[in-house]
Amino acid sequence: MLQIKAGEVAAHVSPMLYGLMTEEINFSYDGGLYGELVRNRNFKEDAQNPIHWQLVQEGGGTGSMALDASQGFNEAVPASLKLTIASASGKQQVGVANEGFWGIPVRPNSRYRASFYAKAAPGFNGPLTVAITSNDGATTHASARVGGLTGDWKEYQVTLTTGQVMATAENRLVISTNQAGSLWLGFVSLFPETYANRPNGNRKDIMQLLADMKPAFLRFPGGNYLEGNTIATRFDWKKTIGDIARRPGHLDNAWHYWSSDGMGLLEFLEWCEDLHMQPLLAVYAGYSLRGQRVAPGPDLEPYVTEAIDEIEYVTGPATSTWGARRAKDGHPAPYRLEYVEVGNEDNFDRATGGTYDGRFTQFFDAIKAKYPQLKVISTMRATTRTPDLIDEHYYRNSEDEMASHAHDYDARDRTGPKVFVGEWATRVGRPTPNMSGALGDAAWMTGMERNSDLVVMSSYAPLFVNVNKGGMQWPTDLIGYDAMTSYGSPAYYAQQMFSRNHGDVVLPVTAQGIPTREWQPPRRASVSAQQPPLPPAQQVPTLFYSVTRDSQSGTIYFKIVNRASTPQPVRVEIAGLERVEPKGQSIVLGAASPDDTNSITEPTKIVPVTTSVDGLGSSFTREFPPYSITILELRGK
Ligand code: AHR
Repeated sequence: MLQIKAGEVAAHVSPMLYGLMTEEINFSYDGGLYGELVRNRNFKEDAQNPIHWQLVQEGGGTGSMALDASQGFNEAVPASLKLTIASASGKQQVGVANEGFWGIPVRPNSRYRASFYAKAAPGFNGPLTVAITSNDGATTHASARVGGLTGDWKEYQVTLTTGQVMATAENRLVISTNQAGSLWLGFVSLFPETYANRPNGNRKDIMQLLADMKPAFLRFPGGNYLEGNTIATRFDWKKTIGDIARRPGHLDNAWHYWSSDGMGLLEFLEWCEDLHMQPLLAVYAGYSLRGQRVAPGPDLEPYVTEAIDEIEYVTGPATSTWGARRAKDGHPAPYRLEYVEVGNEDNFDRATGGTYDGRFTQFFDAIKAKYPQLKVISTMRATTRTPDLIDEHYYRNSEDEMASHAHDYDARDRTGPKVFVGEWATRVGRPTPNMSGALGDAAWMTGMERNSDLVVMSSYAPLFVNVNKGGMQWPTDLIGYDAMTSYGSPAYYAQQMFSRNHGDVVLPVTAQGIPTREWQPPRRASVSAQQPPLPPAQQVPTLFYSVTRDSQSGTIYFKIVNRASTPQPVRVEIAGLERVEPKGQSIVLGAASPDDTNSITEPTKIVPVTTSVDGLGSSFTREFPPYSITILELRGK
């Protein structure tokens, strides 16, 4: 039985509770959200070979291609791709083809913006054909011609428009010619239509999935991606702004692939703007993953300045140094910024003696001195300064394990800093969580929502995964996609339900007779040769709940998670209201089995179902289906 005290307030629900966390992992941006379709667009992914590019020789034409370090395109891109056409004429074609990120998506009646930098050897001036063709070269989906190449680097742009073609990803971008001679390509790009028509923008379908979650904020740019394995491979924000053809890109060695940095600092901010999210900016704090640390003191000062400059780029007026740079990059208006996080998971720095206190102090003091209004988030407990928030991360390897922690915050001391649960996930299901993962997540979310006076922000991680072979570095991930389509996992829909349906106050609930099941926690990781003992078995609830109320409209959002394999009848009594309407609404996410899931081929197998319900009131009994997450909306006065 659940007794709800609708006339009382246990806590206020933070309007920032449900947000997003993101980094370049699992091909989140390149090969994911970021619209660019050309892989290795500036030929820097490999110093020896133009990987992801192939030579095209059709109809008897012959030629060769190679990286040419003697013909650098610009200071950031030291080598170009040289194409030599030994012989070609008439219908013969020699060129280069890019395979994209597991294909180039083609859709009917669609426009693509192709652009490239090129220069020619004496005697060659084109024309070039720019085309999206099937991988076997048999079908040209769209093409355009470019002529007048000269001996100087110049940018060429064309629009490629498809007709009534079949939607398919088995395509490539081809730049070719039927004239003998030589030319160099410096940077090649292909964009589909993007969300909100932004140049250098994002994929529409994935942005829509995110928009449907109504997230309050975006934590970026990491995660381990912020820190890099080394200082040189951190997210060096100054190298991620300005003309995309002049961004050097860098090896994302935290996750082992090349990052074009097309998703740079300004693009993160534009992404926030498009989805009405607040940016939560994480700044590099002198700690990289593979042993490199910057000691607090004078050595750290350049990195503190780097962070202060970054905040100025985001928030400064166009008259400030970095605000002017943002204006030059296309966004004169400053962005609103409330939260800055110093580093990521600096608790892993313990091995080298733990330098976070010193580093955090230096960043905290500098940020507060210039921007006293900013809330500064620490990534672990700091003893020398009191952060405004502390970022806590929880990855759990089973539904039961996650559920066993859903009441952790109920008894947590309220005198310390507020909590930002900046990364969390029930890691069940690959590449994306199944229903079991969603049930663990939902149980955990009831705990965060109930304690939202303390847990004021939260974000699941990782957010994205490219489901192609080689696309995933870290399971389990909320949203999956390939080149053509994307889908939300059951856990995605659970979050969408929680984020979109809550009031501004938490109502006190007392519970009796909550069912449980036994869970055997796994052994802890061994630090010695001896196997540690098995921890004691635990009784973990199979039913979780959280109740909030919109104090303006009076609507009560009653969330209930039934993890059991059987329907669960629950008696509900609501005190403190004159009347509760018998009619209301129910949103249910359910599955026949906890192993059921969504995928590229079955993207909407498990989705929330909204229905009108009757029989509600100040007291009622309702049965909640097995393996289900329900939100009952009740109206009362
Ligand atoms: O979310 C994957 C990784 O988990 C993040 O990069 C890191 O912060 C955490 O360890």
